[in-house]
Amino acid sequence: MYTEAVMDHFRNPRNVGSMENADGVGQVGNPKCGDIMKIYLKINDETIEDVKFETFGCGSAIASSSMATELIKGKSINEAVELTNKAVVEALGGLPPVKVHCSVLAEQAVKSALFDYAQKTGKVIKGLENYEPIDDDDIHCH
Ligand code: FES
Repeated sequence: MYTEAVMDHFRNPRNVGSMENADGVGQVGNPKCGDIMKIYLKINDETIEDVKFETFGCGSAIASSSMATELIKGKSINEAVELTNKAVVEALGGLPPVKVHCSVLAEQAVKSALFDYAQKTGKVIKGLENYEPIDDDDIHCH
């Protein structure tokens, strides 16, 4: 049911933990399943130098956040904002259909951390101009 990449990132998640003095922090949650994902970014010269995550949730949410952090580490903020949940799912080799929403949490957590950074620094990140932190009800858990 789960690919090897999903099992690997679930068992050995990369970049787990919190970060002091993060330049951007984003948290999204889904009240229906109770899963919460928090992403911390260390940004230098518009590049994501370091990223950490804390996820309290299902295995797919943990694997998705781990993969999302790997995909944005070392990237520019403008590249990171383009990360989609589809890219996370593809990098994981797929997720069962009822678990795809877990990857949406990862995309949204990254965007909300970048939005937090943009707000704090007054920078404009292309694609986030009209960002509104996601309404929890928009993410449907099964
Ligand atoms: Fe809700 Fe995975 S995020 S079950």
